[in-house]
Amino acid sequence: MPQNPMIRALVIFLIGLLILLIGVAAWLYTQPGRGGGSFDNSGAGVQSEIGVDYSLTNHEGETVTRADFQGLYRLYYFGFTFCPDICPTSLATMTQALDRLERAQPEAAARIQPIFITIDPERDDVAALADYVSHFHPRLIGLTGSQEQIDAVAKGFRIFAQKTDDRGGDDYLMDHTSAFVLMGPDGKFIRLFTHGTPPQEMAEALGRIAG
Ligand code: NI
Repeated sequence: MPQNPMIRALVIFLIGLLILLIGVAAWLYTQPGRGGGSFDNSGAGVQSEIGVDYSLTNHEGETVTRADFQGLYRLYYFGFTFCPDICPTSLATMTQALDRLERAQPEAAARIQPIFITIDPERDDVAALADYVSHFHPRLIGLTGSQEQIDAVAKGFRIFAQKTDDRGGDDYLMDHTSAFVLMGPDGKFIRLFTHGTPPQEMAEALGRIAG
């Protein structure tokens, strides 16, 4: 330790600061939706290419992979059919945006494939998805899979999802990222639409991109 009390105090202060910073960094890294690779609802942390290859089951019971959407823009939303509020609002927004685009630029709209991937495969089987997607856009595809498959695809898309309010059995909710992820016809990430994007704004942006 330096003899000068001022310098000694400074060294002790800097060591304390370093320990504090390491602690804060470690804490942030363990927080859901941070550090571990998820983006939050503002879209912060999104990288230039996200998404993964997947093999899931659609709401008609058929196996679907990312390659099945080759040549189409894919507009993904991750959620769960028991969601009381956030998911239905988001999917209604998506439906309105696509309806608008269909009226304004039908060819651009036809190039966009809306996809709903459940983050609650425990309850969202093929039948539950089939019923759910029928309430929204007619071309909306619902995808489910095993817990392992869903975990992998959510991680690949940097979607945060976690059980909450668990009262046992089937009685629980899911905390999850609410944002639309737009991938290009080549499967590369284009942009996010954050939660609360108005349908008109989404329709205009999709028209510019896919038009
Ligand atoms: Ni939801």
